Amino acid sequence: MAIKKILRYGDPILRQKSKEVHKVSAKIKALVQDLFDTMYMDNGVGLAAPQIGVNLRVFVADCSTKDDPMKPMVFINPKIIKKSGAVVSQEGCLSFPDAYTEVKRYKDIMVKALDGHGKSFVMEVKGGTLLARCIQHENDHLDGILFIDHTTNRFEADKVLAEHNLPPVEVDKLLDEPDIDAELAKNAKK
Ligand code: NI
Repeated sequence: MAIKKILRYGDPILRQKSKEVHKVSAKIKALVQDLFDTMYMDNGVGLAAPQIGVNLRVFVADCSTKDDPMKPMVFINPKIIKKSGAVVSQEGCLSFPDAYTEVKRYKDIMVKALDGHGKSFVMEVKGGTLLARCIQHENDHLDGILFIDHTTNRFEADKVLAEHNLPPVEVDKLLDEPDIDAELAKNAKK
């Protein structure tokens, strides 16, 4: 039970691929608690293990609002098993303090994971909600992918990053997302 230091963009640990968890042991439960403690301390809605320097496939989320109270959620060894649609929205990350930029995400997802007790569950989240986007964002962290890799405008993102004393966009990490682009073009025509 501890508040950990959150690694900032530029730290190579954030770009590493995390390893699967083999057993939801006491050690993993302590990691989950540290993630919650650290996330709440920094007013985040999600936090992934690599952000506190642990390259294991674990993240937590709490996307509650006043009108929509939700349970704090734990995702261990998550897999996004279905994805469709597209949304563009502002996103930030606790590893990029105060820097927000527009990114592309899937609108609807289905995720399979283990919960904090090691029990398997499947969850469907639709409509490009904060939770739908949060799960994609945190899941990416486990593969060393960061939200700026999904930017809609890397020059705009660079401007925001510079304003917050963060390194620029890593051009070789920018993602090619033809299915999302096609979906967004379709939506624009409507
Ligand atoms: Ni993040």
